[in-house]
Amino acid sequence: MMIIIKNKFDIKKMKKAGEITAKVLNMIKKYIVPGISTGELDDICKDYIYTKKKVISACLGYQGYPRYTCISKNTTVCHGIPNYKQKIKNGDIINIDISIIKDGYFGDSSKMFFVGQCSSLAKKLCKITKKSLYEAIKIVKPNLPLRKIGKTIQKIAEKNNFSVVREYCGHGIGKNFHEEPYVLHYDNHDNTILLKQGMIFTIEPMINAGKKDIYCKKDKWTVKTKDNSLSAQYEHTILVTKNGYKVLTLRKNEKIV
Ligand code: MF3
Ligand code: CO
Repeated sequence: MMIIIKNKFDIKKMKKAGEITAKVLNMIKKYIVPGISTGELDDICKDYIYTKKKVISACLGYQGYPRYTCISKNTTVCHGIPNYKQKIKNGDIINIDISIIKDGYFGDSSKMFFVGQCSSLAKKLCKITKKSLYEAIKIVKPNLPLRKIGKTIQKIAEKNNFSVVREYCGHGIGKNFHEEPYVLHYDNHDNTILLKQGMIFTIEPMINAGKKDIYCKKDKWTVKTKDNSLSAQYEHTILVTKNGYKVLTLRKNEKIV
């Protein structure tokens, strides 16, 4: 067990990586209109990441991943592979997951976008998933038992008759994309880790409107709900500070409420 505590220099670099990650998600919003393909959305993110920000995608080549971002539509839980044949249409909900590397440090964040008019269930699922992330972020401070994060998320999801995906978790992040601690999004009594100032990790709950069960498609990446229910995810990269937290991937105009 080895949780890397970040020093001042690391934190400065992680703030920069987080800021750029956040900017990609703000930049892409206006392109999300009926008729555009997820492949085209990925291309726009790629141009912004490489040409405008002069950083690189952490996704491309990660365990053989073929594109620059992950885009997951409706019943896709995560790791949707952008594709020119996959067009988005009115009523879809999509998650765009951005992971970048700036000067050797990683930033990781994702959010849901609504395409035109969405169903009340789709809107509620996204609202509750975002709330579960925000409520978990708000309790972060030194000495908090790590398992309280998952407990908070699970309680909010299940109170609304939604379910928490178990197979994927948040993760420590820094000079590695994924490192300890691993942050489950449901309660786990065995975990005795206490948060410490200088830890940086993601929280990234995946919440299904139906049952928690998932499967992975033959492409080895695309994860779907087994019961074909909608799924939503929000993700931030969080620093534990002296008295609480700082959201390193906070977007302009975003407030943790
Ligand atoms: N961004 C995801 C995470 O939160 C990982 C994406 S897998 C990749 O950890 F292959 F696309 F990079
Ligand atoms: Co992540």
